[in-house]
Amino acid sequence: MEPFNIRNITIDPPLVLSPMAGVTDYTFRRLIKRRGGVGLVVSEFISVEGLTRHNPKSKRQMRFDEDERPYAVQIFGGKPDRMAMGAEMAEEVGADILDVNCGCPAPKVVKNGGGSGLLREPKLLESILKEIKKAITIPLTLKLRTGYTEASINVVDVAKMAEQCGVEHIQVHGRTREQGYKGLANWEIIRQVKEAVSIPVSGNGDITSIEYGMRKWRESGVDGILIGRGAMQNPWIFRQFADVLAGREPYQPDVAEKKAVLLEFFGLCREEMPEIVSLGKMKQLAGQFTKGLVGGAQFRQTLYHSHSAQEILDNIDIYFETLSQRATFGDGEVESDADIEMTSCDAPVLPTIEPPGRLSAGV
Ligand SMILES: Cc1cc2nc3c(=O)[nH]c(=O)nc-3n(C[C@H](O)[C@H](O)[C@H](O)COP(=O)(O)O)c2cc1C
Repeated sequence: MEPFNIRNITIDPPLVLSPMAGVTDYTFRRLIKRRGGVGLVVSEFISVEGLTRHNPKSKRQMRFDEDERPYAVQIFGGKPDRMAMGAEMAEEVGADILDVNCGCPAPKVVKNGGGSGLLREPKLLESILKEIKKAITIPLTLKLRTGYTEASINVVDVAKMAEQCGVEHIQVHGRTREQGYKGLANWEIIRQVKEAVSIPVSGNGDITSIEYGMRKWRESGVDGILIGRGAMQNPWIFRQFADVLAGREPYQPDVAEKKAVLLEFFGLCREEMPEIVSLGKMKQLAGQFTKGLVGGAQFRQTLYHSHSAQEILDNIDIYFETLSQRATFGDGEVESDADIEMTSCDAPVLPTIEPPGRLSAGV
């Protein structure tokens, strides 16, 4: 498990923060990058329809910090000319890599021919990739699901076609579009993709522990690993992987550091966004971050019911004070994770006040 190259860009360590719409924005990416161990970060997926019509939100989504490099912009859409224009815009703002989304299952994306809809139309995808290659000089990469349905798994053929078009890194989330986020990612198919092409292949799906990640990595033989939801639960997961790869004991943050990370994230959000949006963002992260913490469910409820920044800060103080005294918060149970799944590439940014029992746009 060595660093790998996407043309002349070294991905070291070979660990990628998987793109997540509504999550991996400028703020979250920097939070993760500062924890260490991330070889590549990717923007949220960005609509080329928005970009090429100069929608300010789409343009803002491309923004990044020099410290984030190497940095990939991910675009989605179904029209070759628009995709090429969007790709060119990403190169112009200084992205190191252009990534095409071929995995999002959200109906509104698929309906317009983008995301995982492209798996049903390999010819259209081929045209898109060829047009993009003509428009940019930075490396082009692709993020795929395994197929549209269980009956039409075609990722190996699509990956071979993409290699012929000049794609320089294939990333496979081991589920079909039909599967959404159900069941487990199929790493056997990821292994087949790795064997079928000679460009680097990275695998993705369900990596939330070092042990599982290392096992899937070894079994599939991939060059790199993408981690999405696991990074919200544990922002140190990349550093812990990097430690293990370097033969060290994985880093373990203490309670004080966990508190500091929540406060850091909230601070970054408040610098960037209106208060109401930063409250929503905080609730979103806390929903995942508190998984498995003692009294985490109760803590989450106090955050969901916080209506101001001060209330959030007070509740964080109270919770971590209780933990540091080894006292019981709420019923003191470590709750089950079932109610806090996060399952969409279409997740809204949450300016909500009331608790979203689960973060899902229902795709
Ligand atoms: C909230 C959310 C938003 C996502 N948005 C995107 C996206 O914009 N682009 C993309 O390629 N994948 C997106 N994904 C899929 C993830 O990148 C990743 O492939 C998937 O979550 C499986 O990896 P994980 O088990 O490590 O989370 C999203 C996933 C989630 C949960």
